[in-house]
Amino acid sequence: MKNELVAKAREAMKSAYAPYSHFHVGAAVLTEEGQIFTGCNIENSSYGATVCAERTAIFKAVSEGHRRISAIAICGGPKGVVESPAFPCGICRQVMSEFGQADMTVYVVDRDEVLEFTLGELLPHAFEL
Ligand code: THU
Repeated sequence: MKNELVAKAREAMKSAYAPYSHFHVGAAVLTEEGQIFTGCNIENSSYGATVCAERTAIFKAVSEGHRRISAIAICGGPKGVVESPAFPCGICRQVMSEFGQADMTVYVVDRDEVLEFTLGELLPHAFEL
């Protein structure tokens, strides 16, 4: 599953719309039912309306009725060349915590390997109402 998720994140990175930063990101989320949804970053000339790849993928899953996610793979780099790990931003970590448990797996693609974390490691003390 790890390899498939990483391959789909890499593929999704090709759709990145990043004419301002030129930093291309792809993500693939695995739902608890075993379905995969992918996403890319989508920038905007206002900058503030930009959406990260992780949230694109998660929102696609949720909008299709899948609210429980068990893993996500993330892949990113300048012009789509992965030179170092593209860690998820704080907003995306918080969104992951809305639909995933603290033990969900977060795969972050590095140049020659795939790093593996739990969401709890990346976002301890997530905000909850
Ligand atoms: N970006 C993501 O897609 N995911 C992250 O977690 C961090 C940043 C995107 C947003 C923007 O299009 C570009 O990377 C540079 O910040």
